[in-house]
Amino acid sequence: MLSEYYRIHGCNSVSGQLNVSGSKNACLQVLAATLLTRDACVIHNIPNLTDISFMLSIMKHLGVEIEQLDANSWKLSAVNIHGNIHDFARNFRASLCLAGPLLGRKINFHLPLPGGCNLGERPIDIHIKAFQSFGAEIHCYEHYIESDVTQVVHGANVNLTGVRGASVTGTANALMTAVLACGSSILTGCARDPEVLDLCNMLLKMGAKISGIGTDTLYVDGQKELHGVEFYVQPDRIEAGTFVILGLLLGKDLYVNNVNIDHLQSFLKVFNNTSSIELLNNSLLINKDTSFKNINITTGPHPDFPTDLQSQTAVLLSQLPGVSFVEDRVFPDRFVYADELIKMGAHIDKTRGKITITGRSELIGRYVSASDLRAGAAMVLAGCIARGETVVNSIYHILRGYEHLDKKLQNVGVDIEYISNRK
Ligand code: EPU
Repeated sequence: MLSEYYRIHGCNSVSGQLNVSGSKNACLQVLAATLLTRDACVIHNIPNLTDISFMLSIMKHLGVEIEQLDANSWKLSAVNIHGNIHDFARNFRASLCLAGPLLGRKINFHLPLPGGCNLGERPIDIHIKAFQSFGAEIHCYEHYIESDVTQVVHGANVNLTGVRGASVTGTANALMTAVLACGSSILTGCARDPEVLDLCNMLLKMGAKISGIGTDTLYVDGQKELHGVEFYVQPDRIEAGTFVILGLLLGKDLYVNNVNIDHLQSFLKVFNNTSSIELLNNSLLINKDTSFKNINITTGPHPDFPTDLQSQTAVLLSQLPGVSFVEDRVFPDRFVYADELIKMGAHIDKTRGKITITGRSELIGRYVSASDLRAGAAMVLAGCIARGETVVNSIYHILRGYEHLDKKLQNVGVDIEYISNRK
């Protein structure tokens, strides 16, 4: 059986340079968008992650010709493709993003439904409603859905907001259908996340006609075809935020480089313009900050505080005096990690959708598990400040979304070791 884990010894400080990789979530949409043209597309700044390898393998199975140009650049040509998405996609929710562009290309898709997830309920009703609005019949079966486009894929008015806010991949999917639909579309209640902006910018470069970019209403004039593009994926704001937390906990002149500071506004605002975070051009210079009192955070759709940084921030909150509250309005069940922090000595009370953290607690190294990608990052941060040795299991979650995390942390002085029996 494959066993992979990180062994971490807590340390006193970290210093040096951390370089942020390309954004996983932007990249997944950007890769899907290459299906929209028969021309070759060259994409740079693609992080080396298992989620990206999954996406590339699934696309290869659809018939996309794929060539790696260098460590982080790939060329993709979707000339002769089909819509039968490999069964493997069941394990990988972002494969949903392939359905929109396939529909745009008038190729019926067969999409295995993504399975359960540690973040709680993750419906796909918004995606299905969007596909139906564009004129596709959607047949839903127990384990998959299929589209049946008998007539044209036409422009549509679609609302992309669900019970807990706008859907990020729902917006991406609708947009990727609309850019090739016959006629114009108005997409309302759109997600405004930086990853959606990246997708819009790529589509514009491919010849799409979109206005309203950056707002929650996108106006799209469908085109007969789009052309190839060379595109550079934006830096990963969630990786950057994770490193900011590390800096606030342990930084001694820690530089976090390749950051788009605009993308981190709601996150940085929580730290109230502390002088421990110095904003440079595309970098942040961070020092340990012991001046914070309790902090309350509530996640929400962008531009609110990102759910993908909630668990990492909770580790910092466990080190502040007083009572801090964390509420996740996007994924109210995203608190499985709290049990692992409690094992390490944190004082946390859980109710659905919220936790209360009473600090400051000394954390002690333990065997803990990464229940999801961001929870895994939180466990690594906790291990960095804990007394003694922490072993983080189930790190396949972390490898999905943090490029070379162990190497990057070693470079700034963290005693972290990747251990695997992988051949
Ligand atoms: N929603 C619905 N119906 C739908 C889809 C979503 O009601 O059909 C609701 C959800 O219940 C939730 C909200 O809309 O309340 C957000 O879901 P969304 O569709 O925006 O999530 P997603 O697009 O599947 C992306 C990221 C997640 C990130 C969320 C929220 C990708 C591949 N994934 O997921 O990233 O947490 O947006 O920002 O882009 C991660 O990187 O660790 C991660 C989980």
